[in-house]
Amino acid sequence: MSDQVLIFEMGPRDGLQNEKQFVETADKVKLINDLVDCGFRKIEVASFVSPKWVPQMADAEDVVAQLPKGASSKFAALTPNVRGLTRALGTGLDEVAVFASASEAFSQKNINCSIEESLARYQEVLDLARENDMPVRGYVSCVTDCPYTGAIAPSEVARVAKALIDLGCYEISLGDTIGKGTPETVNKMLDAVLDVVPAERLAGHFHETSGRAIENIAASLSRGVRVFDSSVGGLGGCPYAPGASGNVATEAVVAFLHGQGIETGIDVDKLAEVGRFAKTLRTD
Ligand code: HMG
Ligand code: MG
Repeated sequence: MSDQVLIFEMGPRDGLQNEKQFVETADKVKLINDLVDCGFRKIEVASFVSPKWVPQMADAEDVVAQLPKGASSKFAALTPNVRGLTRALGTGLDEVAVFASASEAFSQKNINCSIEESLARYQEVLDLARENDMPVRGYVSCVTDCPYTGAIAPSEVARVAKALIDLGCYEISLGDTIGKGTPETVNKMLDAVLDVVPAERLAGHFHETSGRAIENIAASLSRGVRVFDSSVGGLGGCPYAPGASGNVATEAVVAFLHGQGIETGIDVDKLAEVGRFAKTLRTD
């Protein structure tokens, strides 16, 4: 087992997207700057989605325009369609992400189209990204459970993950959107996904609703996954996944990994301080 893990910090995007009251752009920018100081190699900073769907991310252009220049961190943002990617191009972002689902019902609620329609849409996004040398990450949501229809078949997760790889995504982040996964369901899901996508191209994205995210990370680690998404202070939730809580807290993931002798490159003291600031941004 290699002794390094990359933590993809989600706080400014997944962490804040569900806050009811608008978080000032200056506070979002301070959060990102503080996270850069902690040593994160990758930070998801914004979403170029419809502001009618997710008002909290309406200032994506302003946030991205104020990103620190020459930072050691790479910055990413969500782009749900060509319109979103067009907004993101030329802003200095290092990568973008498309987000599909293994659940038809969640796909409809989250991005207002079927899984097949989303893949067709993402084909156009990936084509335009390729022309602009922009790396694209792919998410698959609801990899174990859907908030609307319950348990999800591992074969469906594998199908959508492989489709995103075939479109050109460099990595697939497997989202336990509502935090209902267990080591057993995560392992079953990984059995199917690892048949079609190698562990080096997978990431784990666990929400903490049931308090089992760290166990699920441990299960994924033992299957070779070395990239995990988390949010400082455990901020967040998805507006289209009712009842789901935030990503697993970055502080908990870093403590767990360091305890296992696995390096992350994150300064834990600085991270604790950013965690305290992140919690002040919570409005509900
Ligand atoms: P739609 O309504 O089906 O699309 O939305 P549309 O093309 O008919 O557009 C509707 C309106 O939005 C139009 O404006 C468009 O111009 C505008 P109007 O004419 O009514 O004034 N519009 C845009 N504006 C700005 N930027 C854009 C854009 N696109 C359209 N890119 C759409 C379809 C996908 C746009 C919408 O459903 C949407 O924005 N959804 C995003 C939902 C979202 O952000 N969810 C949270 C992130 S996903 C997540 O959290 C899960 C994850 O963390 C992993 C996990 O945990 O599982 C990633
Ligand atoms: Mg999420």
